Amino acid sequence: MNIEQLIADVEQQVLQWRRHLHANPELSFQEAQTADYIAAQLAHLGPLKISRPTPNSVVAELQGAAPGPCYALRADIDALPIQEESDEPFCSTRPGVMHACGHDAHSAMLLGAASVLCQLQAQLQGSVRFIFQHAEEVPPGGAQQLVDLGVLDGVKMIFGLHVMPNFPTGEVGMKQGVFSGSSDNFDIVLQGKGGHGSMPHLCIDPVPIGAEIVSALQQIVARKLDPLNAPVLTVATFQAGDSYNVIPDSARLAGTLRTHNQEVRERVPLLVEQTVAGISQAHGASYKVDWTRGYTIGNNHPDACAIAREVVAEAVGPQALRELTSAMFGSEDFSSYQEKVPGCFLFIGSGNEAIGATYGVHNPRFKLDEAAMQIGVKLHVGFIRHLLMR
Ligand code: NI
Repeated sequence: MNIEQLIADVEQQVLQWRRHLHANPELSFQEAQTADYIAAQLAHLGPLKISRPTPNSVVAELQGAAPGPCYALRADIDALPIQEESDEPFCSTRPGVMHACGHDAHSAMLLGAASVLCQLQAQLQGSVRFIFQHAEEVPPGGAQQLVDLGVLDGVKMIFGLHVMPNFPTGEVGMKQGVFSGSSDNFDIVLQGKGGHGSMPHLCIDPVPIGAEIVSALQQIVARKLDPLNAPVLTVATFQAGDSYNVIPDSARLAGTLRTHNQEVRERVPLLVEQTVAGISQAHGASYKVDWTRGYTIGNNHPDACAIAREVVAEAVGPQALRELTSAMFGSEDFSSYQEKVPGCFLFIGSGNEAIGATYGVHNPRFKLDEAAMQIGVKLHVGFIRHLLMR
């Protein structure tokens, strides 16, 4: 059977799947209808064993004609709390919810690959596990939950794709090794002593203490860590008081830590605590620091990257691959799978100025060049062709 032809034949269906999902987005951990829809579509495609590890996720397994290893392909399926402002005719029908990160396309591409691979079942020497994962956008994330439920049991390697409007359609980005950051959030509460704004000497004002802390936290990045392993430490929230002449009792600072290095990830919270403690103590305030751990560092395994390089060249073209030299500080819960098995996560260019597909992910005007989805199907099918067909 001609694989190119099978991929071309599924193109219209992939568009329909994507547009249906785009019009009906659901937020992280609430993707029950999305998962029902995906499971229903999978049921038509061929001899797939479909399971629902959680009510909002779907896993389908295709057993090839001959025995062999199992490889996994992953798509995320959740949307974002964003009011869509694109001019797409199939834009979101749900106020305040939008597929602004392309997870609708990821799901449609993986359905397309499942459709093609079902038709190639007789030639497969091993099995394929298609993972439609919920809740990529909100820690603790769907990936870790699915890993804990055993979706990687017996899996040898995993691949995942993400659309990327920053690259033109036709390019595929890959970063070997660390490619995405860890993401942990912190909350700092400073307890001072409130009072009249005209009598600061009778108070312990948490506002200047907080301001000192905001500045001092950057010294951790600039002066306490190896610059080659520098993290991002962002204070995104500073809340205190709500009047002109009242010194507030307390202040709250909150923000995020992104790292590409596990040691740095472990060390920064200790340095933050030290800084907050020292400054608070100097001014007679008390404090509390709480951390919420998010996603781990994403790490593309060299073996999986070597396969991906060949597959991109075969399936898309010898010039298509863009080897990225730096990792992003964005986080991606694909990292949870990569802690268990070797894997590679690739970025498929989906930018196209001619159709206005220029806005970044998580932008209310985000739009993707749907031609990129064909490349996604080719890559998913290409991984399995490369690994399970002789
Ligand atoms: Ni995303």
